[in-house]
Amino acid sequence: MTNVINQAAGDGWNIYNADCVEFTTGLPDNSIDLSVYSPPFSSLYIYSESERDMGNVASHEEFFASYRHLVREKLRVTKPGRLTAIHIKDLVYYSNSSKKGDRGLYDFTGDCARVHVEEGWTLHRKITVDRCPVKEMQKTKADRLLYKHFRLDAARTGGGMPEYIYVFRKWAEGMDETAPVLHPPANFPLETWQEWAQPIWRGLPETDVLNVGAKTDEERHLCPMPLNLTRRIVLQYTNPGEVVFSPFLGIGSEGYESVRHGRRFIGTELSERYFGQAIKNLQRAEKNKATGDLFEALPPVPAAEPMPQKNLEITPTMTLAELRDFLSRLPEEEMAREWGGWDDGRLYAQFPASHPKKDAPAIVIDPDFSRAA
Ligand SMILES: C[S@@+](CC[C@H](N)C(=O)[O-])C[C@H]1O[C@@H](n2cnc3c(N)ncnc32)[C@H](O)[C@@H]1O
Repeated sequence: MTNVINQAAGDGWNIYNADCVEFTTGLPDNSIDLSVYSPPFSSLYIYSESERDMGNVASHEEFFASYRHLVREKLRVTKPGRLTAIHIKDLVYYSNSSKKGDRGLYDFTGDCARVHVEEGWTLHRKITVDRCPVKEMQKTKADRLLYKHFRLDAARTGGGMPEYIYVFRKWAEGMDETAPVLHPPANFPLETWQEWAQPIWRGLPETDVLNVGAKTDEERHLCPMPLNLTRRIVLQYTNPGEVVFSPFLGIGSEGYESVRHGRRFIGTELSERYFGQAIKNLQRAEKNKATGDLFEALPPVPAAEPMPQKNLEITPTMTLAELRDFLSRLPEEEMAREWGGWDDGRLYAQFPASHPKKDAPAIVIDPDFSRAA
């Protein structure tokens, strides 16, 4: 019997505060049209103290031991011919967690794919989601991305980490009886298809998440699935009215896009706190339904901020106030690419290689811009 701690429902959605493996085991065969989600990235984040939290694991082996059950049950409950889409990335590891004492990348995406194929899924599609290495460097301070290391010994440096969406198909008897997913050309013109069929999805901001505007930790999630990615998968791979499932509901991103676009949604989440927030987000989705027109579903990409027009360079005679003003108005990426970046919690700025003063020493500034050295 499935142990459901709590549940909530609305117009077209049912969600459960429960363990996803146990819950999925209780679902009928061939009942789900699409599943889409971000799994916990093995031991990257611990979401709760629960021993069932798949982020609360001591090793990747432990993660995959539980995840494999879910992958197997997902296959059973998915309709023949239909799909599961997972949003994943590789993981960086450091010397302190490596027996060999090395640092590198753990191929988490590869292991997720292997488990799916071993459990009977067919690998159907790989989408790479382009991400900006400068933003990643500013967020993670990963030393493999530091320009300082690039200058000292470029062999130490790596590169940016993309995200991926891997799609798997249930290739099984009865596929011909499952309804095809049909899109009226007016809603899904050739140009949209050509863009969505790209193997690399670019220009989809990672900030398009339900967290935006969240004021408290209660409302926020550590790593919500971007809405723009979720929307494309739900719209491409389901008909209106079909059932979308997210075993790792979090604060409800996959449900939000499904309900907004007239799909039915079921989801499970282990953390009571995120479950509570998911209820609010799904209620919001009900009030905020899209008209069904794909163009409405694709918000315009916000225009890039114009470059500041004056003080286009840091000069040795600048006062601290001018320097602060200059840096605060410079778009982040531009600043880091051309002018240095963050290192050990401090900002350093340097003339670009093309500049006559390129050999001048870097200016190092405390994060509050209070001191320049
Ligand atoms: C990567 S997050 C998903 C975020 C979600 N896509 C969103 O946008 O909010 C993974 C989630 O899985 C939940 N989780 C971990 N183990 C679980 C389990 N066994 N059953 C259900 N949920 C679980 C965590 O609490 C966490 O919220």
